[in-house]
Amino acid sequence: MNAEIEQTLMLKQLLKNRIEQSDGWIPFDLFFNTIMYEPGLGYYSSGSHKIGEGGDFTTAPEISKYFSKAIARQTNRLLTMHAEPSIIEVGAGKGTFAFEYLKELEETGIEINRYYILEISADLKDRQMQLISGLPKSIRDKVTWLESLEMDPVDGILIANEVIDALPFKRFTIENEQICELGITLTNGELEEATKKSSKRLIDEIGLISIQIDRKFEEGFTSEIRLDFQKWFRGISSLINRGSMLFIDYGYVRSDFYRADRSKGNMICHYQNQVIEDPLQNLGYQDISASVDFTQLADTAIEEGFFIDLFTSQGVFLLNEESLNLIDDIDSNELRINEIQKLKQLIMPNQMGDIFKCMILGKGISRDNFEELNQLTHTL
Ligand SMILES: C[S@@+](CC[C@H](N)C(=O)[O-])C[C@H]1O[C@@H](n2cnc3c(N)ncnc32)[C@H](O)[C@@H]1O
Repeated sequence: MNAEIEQTLMLKQLLKNRIEQSDGWIPFDLFFNTIMYEPGLGYYSSGSHKIGEGGDFTTAPEISKYFSKAIARQTNRLLTMHAEPSIIEVGAGKGTFAFEYLKELEETGIEINRYYILEISADLKDRQMQLISGLPKSIRDKVTWLESLEMDPVDGILIANEVIDALPFKRFTIENEQICELGITLTNGELEEATKKSSKRLIDEIGLISIQIDRKFEEGFTSEIRLDFQKWFRGISSLINRGSMLFIDYGYVRSDFYRADRSKGNMICHYQNQVIEDPLQNLGYQDISASVDFTQLADTAIEEGFFIDLFTSQGVFLLNEESLNLIDDIDSNELRINEIQKLKQLIMPNQMGDIFKCMILGKGISRDNFEELNQLTHTL
């Protein structure tokens, strides 16, 4: 039996056991956690190719090294505020961002104390270590992988590119004018989606959103919510004493996230670079993610004592003079044109430039570090 089929069967059996132990139904977020992160079996925890060329989906650092270099240029001003800044990267994928970002800091003469990586996937951690080992000793010696959130908070910045979209989420739908929770059940021994009466907590949270966006959700409207987001945010933000947190991800402000024409929700599955509708397909072998509700991120951050330093599109954030100069430095015309094409993919509004947003949060530092870019800010 090939390894892919074997892994899928093992995941299916694990899910069946969990469903049987839970009176025949598990919520979507538990299903998601199992198929994405179950040690050794889940999508992120197993050895499948996943990110970048030949994988299931790609991310900005995998498209162009100038993404990471441009972010380094943009974050220089946040690092130089501190005497001995450290960087924490959450969810480092194949390690490509760290590799290029660290090289760029070295080239621009920015001294850092340490570069910490917090990674949930043992498989990706191995790949990151392998890539980082190719950096000069003076740089790679600064990189440390965190085993837990137990460390003294640092001054500096935390960076998370496309991590929130990979966090678990609940799915809900409106049935007979009631908010129902979507989950997974067993029908004739096969996995199937099914709804259940929502918990009071889920009903209250969705009710609050409905008031905020001033719309009663229509019959059949289906969407997502990250109910445990605050807990996750509290954990990672506890690593920062004074400094900034930069989140880049695809998503919307709340009124757009829950827009009536997004009546099927914001979840997306990818298998070998193709969009798949059904989250029950290719178990453990397809990526599942959902857009970020940036209003949730902003509200949570403010509640946890941060201020919003910047909220803009990825296109606007990358398009600054210094980043563009980086491309000008490429000698060969052919290579330069090639890189410009890749950067266009990251910057153009009809590609990743608009749907991907950048949010920078600050704590214990001065405000308005991005005043000029904030004029192009989206309204939260
Ligand atoms: C979509 S990938 C993005 C990877 C990388 N940042 C990039 O841009 O290529 C999501 C990454 O977040 C990691 N991840 C997901 N949940 C996490 C968590 N709770 N803590 C740390 N890493 C997490 C995944 O293992 C993976 O490395």
